[in-house]
Amino acid sequence: MYAQMVKSEGMKSRDEMSAEEQAFQDRIDRGEKIEPKEWMPEGYRKTLIRQIGQHAHSEIVGQLPEGNWITRAPTLERKAILLAKVQDEAGHGLYLYSACETLGVTRDELMELLHAGKMKYSSIFNYPTLTWADMGAVGWLVDGAAIMNQVPLQRTSYGPYSRAMIRICKEESFHQRQGYAIMMKMASGTPAQKKMAQDALNRLWYPSLMMFGPSDKDSVHSAQSMSWKIKMNSNDELRQKFVDQTVPQAEYLGLTVPDPALKWNEDKGGYDFSEPDWSEFYDVLAGNGPCNKDRLGARVKAWEDGAWFRDGLVAHARKAAARRTPAAAE
Ligand code: 3HC
Repeated sequence: MYAQMVKSEGMKSRDEMSAEEQAFQDRIDRGEKIEPKEWMPEGYRKTLIRQIGQHAHSEIVGQLPEGNWITRAPTLERKAILLAKVQDEAGHGLYLYSACETLGVTRDELMELLHAGKMKYSSIFNYPTLTWADMGAVGWLVDGAAIMNQVPLQRTSYGPYSRAMIRICKEESFHQRQGYAIMMKMASGTPAQKKMAQDALNRLWYPSLMMFGPSDKDSVHSAQSMSWKIKMNSNDELRQKFVDQTVPQAEYLGLTVPDPALKWNEDKGGYDFSEPDWSEFYDVLAGNGPCNKDRLGARVKAWEDGAWFRDGLVAHARKAAARRTPAAAE
């Protein structure tokens, strides 16, 4: 049903694995969790740093398009809800950076890689949020896509990542519902409000489909990541599930998914739909999306503006340690 997955670079067959690697793969196959101090292949460690780090960056960069609307939320209640959601995203970033640090990389190193454009964050956050309806569509579609991807990650093989995902998924469900609640209000409001809701869906539909990554035939990491149970499903599998779940929700809202080819396929028990424009996806990944420069600029500025505070915390910690044991001050 899905496009054939490509073999990941450096992926070993069982015969090519050392005895240690075979024993590790057996643990994964038995469904055991791998914990920080245990032996793991270097490729497993690096893949986790790449994926968890990218995920952490996505959470904190993802605060920016919504943070943009906190001061302009239409009511005090909406403002409080949006504020809580944006704060949750900061928390998700912190759990994930902590999980990543257990793999021997520091948070400062991860930040440097993000700021130098050497580590990615989700493509979706390089699109602008133009109207209040976008707050609805982001919650409904973007958090909806995130949940579709992240619920299976609760069972991922690396213990700290799996535990972080359990908490994150609970909060993402609230995010998705608050987005859908905004969409319900807008779609059942005045004709102008309904038009705004439709416009938000039109602009964010394909970028949301891109969140699941390239099609399986172009996904370079999926085969290896799935055999290590770092990823539990392929990109196309999750994209299909997302479409199947979301189309009836759009119908309930009385909105139209902007895909003339969208059609229920009885045989496969799912919708046929148009693929996103993959050249746009790769262009956004290369730094040329509508907001790439703004997003990275805002993160770098926040990091530089906060340097005095981080320095203060370190100085305070040193003094406190010196008071406890004078030798530690040297
Ligand atoms: N945005 C940016 N980069 C993407 C991408 C996307 N939507 N989809 C794929 N890529 C990148 C990959 O990172 C990889 O680049 P790299 O080799 O430089 O790292 C390349 O494209 C090839 O893609 P693959 O399919 O081979 O990569 P993966 O196997 O890593 O699959 C993934 C991509 C499905 C995004 C996977 O990494 C994943 O499941 N990650 C965990 C979830 C995550 O990061 N979610 C972020 C969503 S936003 C979010 O959670 C915030 C919330 O508040 C909404």
